[in-house]
Amino acid sequence: MINLHFLTKHEKISSQLLNWYDRCHRILPWRITPVEQARGTKPDPYKVWVAEIMLQQTTVKAVKSYFTRFLSQWPDIKALSQASQDDVFKIWAGLGYYSRARNLKACADKIVANYNSCFPQTIEELRALPGIGEYTAAAIAAIAFNQPYAVVDSNVERVVSRLFHIRIALSAAKKEIRSYMQGITPHKRPGDFAQAMMDLGSSICTFKRPNCFICPLNDRCIALEKNETENLPLRALKTKKPLRTGIAFVALSENGRVYLQKRQEKGLLGGMSEIPNYFALNASKTDLSLAPFTGIWNYQGDIIHVFTHFTLSMSVYMMSNLVEKSYKNGWWIKTDELDKEALPSVMKKALAKALPTAFRKIKN
Ligand code: ADE
Repeated sequence: MINLHFLTKHEKISSQLLNWYDRCHRILPWRITPVEQARGTKPDPYKVWVAEIMLQQTTVKAVKSYFTRFLSQWPDIKALSQASQDDVFKIWAGLGYYSRARNLKACADKIVANYNSCFPQTIEELRALPGIGEYTAAAIAAIAFNQPYAVVDSNVERVVSRLFHIRIALSAAKKEIRSYMQGITPHKRPGDFAQAMMDLGSSICTFKRPNCFICPLNDRCIALEKNETENLPLRALKTKKPLRTGIAFVALSENGRVYLQKRQEKGLLGGMSEIPNYFALNASKTDLSLAPFTGIWNYQGDIIHVFTHFTLSMSVYMMSNLVEKSYKNGWWIKTDELDKEALPSVMKKALAKALPTAFRKIKN
């Protein structure tokens, strides 16, 4: 145990937090534990990278099972570079933000081609790879390669804002938060420190009702001292998302198969599978002339789906007993095989409106 008496204020923070992490870290499939590290086991950069990409915009709880499936299918970077983009989309289906899956594959191809299948270790080289931005480069450098970069995700933003009593709204405070995080990031165990901050933010220093009583940093937290933990971090006022509207078509054949097609490669949900649909600002929710096949389409209900930059409200129509004609670049697929398709959540929701047994877990 380190004698805290001789440490600077910032060293005390990292030391107290790492002591807590040694006892209370979460067991996660992409991590190695502090004991394993102490015995000389090194983190696998491939696992760290896949996890960090999945964890962008997605919770740990949701990522765990996707990560395990992904790793059992493609255990290393070479295996991933040999996979087809479509298979990567299929495993990714439901995680959202599908450009991540496209970049993952492109990044694997680059590392195999340019770096002999070994992850580069400098922040500049990491930053230059597809899908790796400032946050992810810092996370990989710290967690996989033990370099003292400040890793700042939303949990860390909250912890740092409270610890140092930062009273600037989050979007404007990012630079200041990063600089505080850099100041407390230790040269020893920077990866564990980053993950300890994330664990603290998700388990104790939570958004609502933080459990300051058991926090390992409660004697260092300025917001707690000023009784302001729940007011921080300050948030900028949210602007309302624009509403897009549209229509989607579930075409069911006489053989019990559904018609799917592929979205164009560029843009929202690029390259994923979909049922025929159309949506835009103020688009019609009843225009049946947009349907892929002529006949009698029956209204099934509306779905709402929230994307990052807009909310979508779509009416779903169905026609049954169709003869399986070809149309555009599509194909017909059995309803009990829909879960093998690269269908984004919005399409699963629309399908579930018409075929309630197809995706039982999808909520509308
Ligand atoms: N969120 C983002 N990266 C994470 C990690 N490595 N561990 C836990 N939560 C995270």
